[in-house]
Amino acid sequence: MKNLDELLLDRKTIKKYNPKGKVSKEQLIEISNAGRMAPSGFGLQQVEILVVSNKQKKDLLAETFQGYNCENIKSASALIIVLGISTDTYILDNGKLMDEKLFDPSEMDIAKKEELKKHLLNIYPNIEFKSEYDMINAGIHVGYMALKATELNLGSTIMTGFFVDKLTIQLKEMGMLKEGRRPVFGFAIGEPDNEYPGNKRQKIRVGIEEYANFIE
Ligand SMILES: Cc1cc2nc3c(=O)[nH]c(=O)nc-3n(C[C@H](O)[C@H](O)[C@H](O)COP(=O)(O)O)c2cc1C
Repeated sequence: MKNLDELLLDRKTIKKYNPKGKVSKEQLIEISNAGRMAPSGFGLQQVEILVVSNKQKKDLLAETFQGYNCENIKSASALIIVLGISTDTYILDNGKLMDEKLFDPSEMDIAKKEELKKHLLNIYPNIEFKSEYDMINAGIHVGYMALKATELNLGSTIMTGFFVDKLTIQLKEMGMLKEGRRPVFGFAIGEPDNEYPGNKRQKIRVGIEEYANFIE
């Protein structure tokens, strides 16, 4: 198995897939689990995913992505839509979603849960980056999923190139969008078309000295 450094180097954005390649349900579960293990602000898990392997549905959703992404998704085996949950949704119904995401599954004792929940209900609606918080969280999820896909020898594409309104309407029409959720990323998965020049791009990164300023 590849170590983390190798996976970091190997992972690249796939621009075209082999349409005959098939990602198995087991692999989709493994990739989903990698996302599920992502850290989250306050542990509130403000991200959910829709894992679409049904070709007809995937291709319908692809139509709401910008040109090159649309064709790319159609060639892929599956499309994950990464959904962010708005911060405000967490304070509805006396923090019902906080219960579902954090407190119900926790083994913490009841008094401690209540104390922490009261604290969260107090500070959470007022956090910095409140309106971007789901997006910040979602970015970590796609990073984890992309590395997992690489480990499984699959290609992936992290995408924000979609028409937000069109995708939102399409998801609603398909009955896939629960209240308080919005699409933040598309994430295509499949077997890369290794002949496609766009998949042989050089990995361009600034040098470590430009990227990181070490203050010692
Ligand atoms: C926030 C974000 C949005 C992106 N959106 C798209 C996209 O819509 N379509 C696409 O083909 N690639 C997209 N990418 C991939 C970048 O183009 C790619 O990561 C970058 O060019 C570096 O190439 P590499 O991933 O192969 O190292 C996105 C990446 C990120 C992090």
